[in-house]
Amino acid sequence: MEAVFADIHSHLVPGVDDGSRDEAMSRALLEQAEAEGIRLLIATPHNYPDHSEDSIGRVKAQFELLKELNRTIHSPLQLYLGNEVYYRDAIVEDLEEGRALTMTGTRYVLTEFHPGDSQDRVMRGIRRVISGHYRPIIAHVERIEAFSGDPQALSYLKDMGARLQVNARTMTGGLFDRRSRFWRNMAAEGVITFLGSDAHHPAHRPVIMREAYLKLKKTMDEAQLGRLFYENALTMLNDKTI
Ligand SMILES: [Fe+2]
Repeated sequence: MEAVFADIHSHLVPGVDDGSRDEAMSRALLEQAEAEGIRLLIATPHNYPDHSEDSIGRVKAQFELLKELNRTIHSPLQLYLGNEVYYRDAIVEDLEEGRALTMTGTRYVLTEFHPGDSQDRVMRGIRRVISGHYRPIIAHVERIEAFSGDPQALSYLKDMGARLQVNARTMTGGLFDRRSRFWRNMAAEGVITFLGSDAHHPAHRPVIMREAYLKLKKTMDEAQLGRLFYENALTMLNDKTI
C-alpha cells in the first residue's frame, strides 16, 4: 500500500499571513498536498502577539473558504485549523482568551521561537506553556541555532514535555549535508515527533513530504515511519499523550 502522510505545519489559508495569497494559490497548494500523499493537513497561519480576536475570526472564515475549495476539487485531504503561535510571555492568556488557536481545539500548541533564542529562553517558554496545561510542539526546531547539533538538549526538551517538529525539507539533504544528516539521526532516534511541510507558496516553498519519507526509509523501520509521518498526528488530533 502506498504510504499516506500527515502535514501538521502549513500556510494554506488564503490571505491571512505570508503564505497563500489567494484562492488560486491555495488551490495549487491543496493539489500539491494531495499529490504528495498527504491525507491529513493542519493549516497553521502565523499568530503574532498583536493578533486580536477579530483577526482570529477572519482566519476561521478564510479557513472555511479553504475547506470549500478542497471540496470543489474533490480532494481526499482532511483539513484542520491551528496556528503557528509565536512565543510571548502572555501565550497562555492569549490561548485562553481566544487570541491564538491551539491545534484544532486540542491542548497541543504549535509554538514558534526566534532562531536566535537561547536554550534557556526556549526552556522557560516551554515550562510556561506546560504550566498553563497546554502541550507545546516546537515549530521547525531545527531553526533554533542553540539546539542544532545538540542531541542532549533536544532530548531534554522532549523529557520536559515538548514535542518537536522538523520541516520535511530539512530531511532531504544529500550525504554530505551534515545538518540534514543530524536531523535524520534525531528522527531515527525518536527525538522528533512530527514533520511538517511549512508550505507557503506552490513554487518557492511548496508542499513536500514524500522525498523526506524516501530518505528516512533508509534508516527507519516501518513502525517508526508510520508514527512520524501519520500516527502521531492522529494521536495529537485526539488530544492524547504522544
Ligand atoms: Fe510556518
